[in-house]
Amino acid sequence: MTGAGQGIGRAFAHALAEAGAKVAVIDLSADRADEVARELREKGAEAISIQADAADESSVESFVRTTVQAFGRLDIAVNNAGINLNSAAEEATLEEWDMVHNLNLRGVFIACQHEAKVMFPQGYGKIINTASMASMIVPHPQKQVSYNVSKGAVVSLTRTLAAEWADRGIRVNCISPGIIRTALIEESEALAPLVDEWVSNIPAGRLGEVGDLQGAVVYLASEVSDYMTGHNLAIEGGQTLW
Ligand SMILES: NC(=O)c1ccc[n+]([C@@H]2O[C@H](COP(=O)([O-])OP(=O)(O)OC[C@H]3O[C@@H](n4cnc5c(N)ncnc54)[C@H](O)[C@@H]3O)[C@@H](O)[C@H]2O)c1
Repeated sequence: MTGAGQGIGRAFAHALAEAGAKVAVIDLSADRADEVARELREKGAEAISIQADAADESSVESFVRTTVQAFGRLDIAVNNAGINLNSAAEEATLEEWDMVHNLNLRGVFIACQHEAKVMFPQGYGKIINTASMASMIVPHPQKQVSYNVSKGAVVSLTRTLAAEWADRGIRVNCISPGIIRTALIEESEALAPLVDEWVSNIPAGRLGEVGDLQGAVVYLASEVSDYMTGHNLAIEGGQTLW
């Protein structure tokens, strides 16, 4: 589980641990990863923490190897780490574009490759990528061209890998959260003031909470979803409907 030190990744890690998974808590922040792994062990789960940059290929290779060494196999991989930077499209720099794509898309691709190579000999595996509602609509009024494009591409990546790897027992799906109340929103000067406007565009009448997503990750990680692959599961309070 990448980006598991806080927010959606932390909630996913708790949900999978409660469902019986052994969890490698992977985050750029060693402190956050350690803390979440400790929370999981306090619940009686097996968990390790790994500090890693999910945008860097040698880090990705290393966290996959460390996880397999710790637990003996890799059944479920959740590629969740992502960042959002806000700029008007005509002003977005290539540095911003590269930074966002290097983690949100290129990092997810690299991780999927390394994870699948462990799963192929097992003949089974579940890969779950965190995309975004931004893969389906253009969220507004914030301007986030790099993010929107990267998340649209995560859906295309997920569909492509699902098609290529289905015959080897690998299922690849993604979850597209709507606007979820996490630090990504609350600590962003550009995004935090927009909450009231967003809520007026959400049929469910509120922002999402990380708990709204936990059942979905357990479903996609478990055998009951074995006939589902290449799917983009939107959980957005109906925001894509209006
Ligand atoms: N919050 C939302 O409304 C929302 C909506 C749709 C999609 N998402 C997606 O969900 C995922 C998680 O979002 P969140 O809201 O929990 O974010 P967050 O910022 O609260 O947490 C992200 C975590 O990822 C870690 N991280 C950042 N860069 C990393 C890197 N290079 N390598 C490893 N770890 C790294 C951070 O340290 C942090 O612990 C992201 O992919 C995001 O795009 C979030």
